[in-house]
Amino acid sequence: MRKLIWLVLLISIIACDSKKSNEKDMPLNTEYQEQHRLQFHFSPKEKWMNDPNGMVYHNGEYHLFYQYYPDSTVWGPMHWGHAVSKDLLHWEHLPIALYPDSLGYIFSGSAVLDKDNTSGFGSAENPPLIAIFTYHDITGERAGDILFQTQAIAYSLDDGRTWTKYSGNPVIKNPGIKDFRDPKVFWHDSQDKWVMALAVKDHISFYSSKNLKDWAHESDFGSTLGGHGGVWECPDLFRIEDKWILLVSINPGGPNGGSATQYFVGDFDGKTFTPQDDKTRWLDYGRDNYAGITWSNIPDSDGRKVFIGWMSNWDYANVVPTEKWRSAMTLPRELSIYKSENGYAVKSSLVKEVENLHGELREINSTNKTVELNPDNWTQYDLNLELSGQDLNKHSFEIQLYNELNDTLNLGFKAETQQFYINRDKAGNNDFATNFNGIQTAPFSIQGDKVSIRLLVDIGSVEVFLNEGELTMTSLFFPQQPLAQIELNSKSSLTVKGTIFEMKSIWQ
Ligand code: FRU
Repeated sequence: MRKLIWLVLLISIIACDSKKSNEKDMPLNTEYQEQHRLQFHFSPKEKWMNDPNGMVYHNGEYHLFYQYYPDSTVWGPMHWGHAVSKDLLHWEHLPIALYPDSLGYIFSGSAVLDKDNTSGFGSAENPPLIAIFTYHDITGERAGDILFQTQAIAYSLDDGRTWTKYSGNPVIKNPGIKDFRDPKVFWHDSQDKWVMALAVKDHISFYSSKNLKDWAHESDFGSTLGGHGGVWECPDLFRIEDKWILLVSINPGGPNGGSATQYFVGDFDGKTFTPQDDKTRWLDYGRDNYAGITWSNIPDSDGRKVFIGWMSNWDYANVVPTEKWRSAMTLPRELSIYKSENGYAVKSSLVKEVENLHGELREINSTNKTVELNPDNWTQYDLNLELSGQDLNKHSFEIQLYNELNDTLNLGFKAETQQFYINRDKAGNNDFATNFNGIQTAPFSIQGDKVSIRLLVDIGSVEVFLNEGELTMTSLFFPQQPLAQIELNSKSSLTVKGTIFEMKSIWQ
């Protein structure tokens, strides 16, 4: 009997202890605890997501809509999922904003604040938010019709909480081209009109409108310029300083295979886009930054062009090894322009808000050939390094992120080929798709005796920013455990200075 009492006592002590430790570890959002779930990037609670859509800032909220299929973890009938944030980092999930209907699935598009109520859907006191999207008529497509993509609008009078589709949809009919989609709209101030950039198979068409309902075709751009290894998708046109930037996603045909986003810098006179030259430029050389666009209506007092992309690639997006959810967005990035050796180019750097997720800090200061960079083994981090030395451009170096199970992600600079690279071939699970492997490279030369490198590592993603975003590379990987150990190796000794911050989760 005594033995039994002791046993009961022991069991209850153990149960109580494990309850305590469970309570301590119990995250507020249990959905965000699965293996591979990113901790400081936006992802839906569950199911399939692709492109960011309808990004508009309004009344203190950044709206993020996204291509969403609520019934499965693979692509299917598209809806617009919806979330809002006050700081670009922490997101509140809202109900689905747009459901498919008899005109089709709801494909990608944009949203604007119609501040002068040009559409007439709202009033001067309560101007409407307007979503402009593509209908993809799946029945038509299956029947062999080619007119199955059209452009449509919907409006909201309650800060984006509910949406009404326009009864006169579609607002742009299909002119006889299969790929006819992803409208991005902005208000052209000096010409008092709305302008739409639309992806049309192998080029971008520009349309204009006074009321968002009646659209006129203005011009076409790009059928003989830029990358053409695949279909053009998800354009964005905006001004930075006195230059116009045109983003164009392309799939396949990216510099490292599959999906990627190219851009053109030039002029836009309200009708026609004229590029500065015929060079092809890529916004991000990694394999996992696609279909990104910028927020509209960010106040002039802020003035930033803030971009977010879908952190995946159509080569394998449907089969990546996550169970309950598929895909996350990149961190928000601020786009700016600078004058490079070869004309104007776009820089992508992280928005400053990201620093609000910084936890503890360790400083790095070394001249050793091998430097251990994460002595605390943090599993998610923001690593900032400045390497300096003479003839730096002649010295290869490599950063290895690894774990105890020998999963290793290698990133580095190869002097012989003047390239920066990411190699995820040994970084964990990669047998789900044959085309997931392979070294990702980008042309890169180091000017002078310094180079800066920033790596944002979040469980299964790395975002690389070289020289404050002159080159960016974004890549997924699926380690068995987080890659919490980091080492920098170089053949000759370089001076390595920097910081590493632990990154806090946005989901706890
Ligand atoms: C880009 C894209 C868009 C399309 C959407 C469909 O990833 O193919 O062109 O609107 O995804 O989900």
